Amino acid sequence: MSEPRTDDRVDVPAEAWSGVHRGPLREGEWVRLVDQKGRKHNFELVAGKRFFSNKGHLDHDDMIGREEGFTLTSSAAGQYLIFRPLLNEFVVSMPRGAAVVYPKDAAQIVALADIYPGARVVEAGAGSGALTCSLLRAVGPWGKVTSYELREEFADVARRNVHQFFSAPEGQTHPAWDLRLGDLKLGLPELGHQVDRIILDMLDPWNCVDVVADALVPGGIVCAYVATTTQLSRVVETLRVHGGFTEPQPWESLVRDWHVEGLAVRPGHKMIGHTAFLVTARRMAPGEKAPRKTRRPAPGAYGVDYTGPRPADIPPVETDAGAAEAHEA
Ligand SMILES: C[S@@+](CC[C@H](N)C(=O)[O-])C[C@H]1O[C@@H](n2cnc3c(N)ncnc32)[C@H](O)[C@@H]1O
Repeated sequence: MSEPRTDDRVDVPAEAWSGVHRGPLREGEWVRLVDQKGRKHNFELVAGKRFFSNKGHLDHDDMIGREEGFTLTSSAAGQYLIFRPLLNEFVVSMPRGAAVVYPKDAAQIVALADIYPGARVVEAGAGSGALTCSLLRAVGPWGKVTSYELREEFADVARRNVHQFFSAPEGQTHPAWDLRLGDLKLGLPELGHQVDRIILDMLDPWNCVDVVADALVPGGIVCAYVATTTQLSRVVETLRVHGGFTEPQPWESLVRDWHVEGLAVRPGHKMIGHTAFLVTARRMAPGEKAPRKTRRPAPGAYGVDYTGPRPADIPPVETDAGAAEAHEA
């Protein structure tokens, strides 16, 4: 194999704020070691320091200055694969305050909420900053990500994680990031400008629908990430009842690995099943309403047992006949 050309070793421009380096590993960078059992270890390279494991030790100095993608053997004959951590690896191993948005969902959010370079995005809550990293990556240094977080201790975790991922120099942060301590419902009306995308990863996104509608530009997208079916129902119905959004689109993604070895080609035994549901809807222009769905709701969908937000053209069920119909459904 040929040696890397000189320009392959030149680092990604710092102004891109990509969180990625290329070229030889340098002191102060984070690396990810994977041992022969698949266990992962992430740490910062410090000249003169040693990494210890149950297989003896490795010297950081034997990693600094090398191109990533090599194997080192420790003092007790353990083999370690060494690369820089990818964003999707970083977010599942970084310190957590609140639960994080998993990479499979962050990818869906970036793609289906259409986060683009230069976009003005609001998210709540910042939590541990996992989704924040993907949003900042997608908007780039010319966009804006305003992250609201209720709890100071989580905001601190998010700040540390985002700074680490983007290698922010001391006293600096990603130029597109604005982390605000407080409630999105109170903060958003004070933001002073409209935004293109709003991502809600919080317990009660339905309580934010009015402020979200006021803050979004026409054509803007709201995307809610919720863990349970009751939350999913409530946020979808609240968006529907509001009237200023297109029909909400709910979905989830499941990721299944495959085992591929000779003739043994089959689904893996483990999969990333349920993490959360996603819902997106687009903001209509002021005063405009999306056409009503021509298909009637399923019988009993809004029957006597339904207690959530109710579309204006679907009256509450009051008669015995209506109740019977609801129970049969
Ligand atoms: C599941 S965590 C978010 C995780 C984050 N998206 C990540 O990927 O690391 C939910 C966060 O929302 C915050 N939160 C809940 N309601 C909020 C509100 N109204 N305004 C701002 N933050 C809120 C909570 O404090 C919590 O940290």
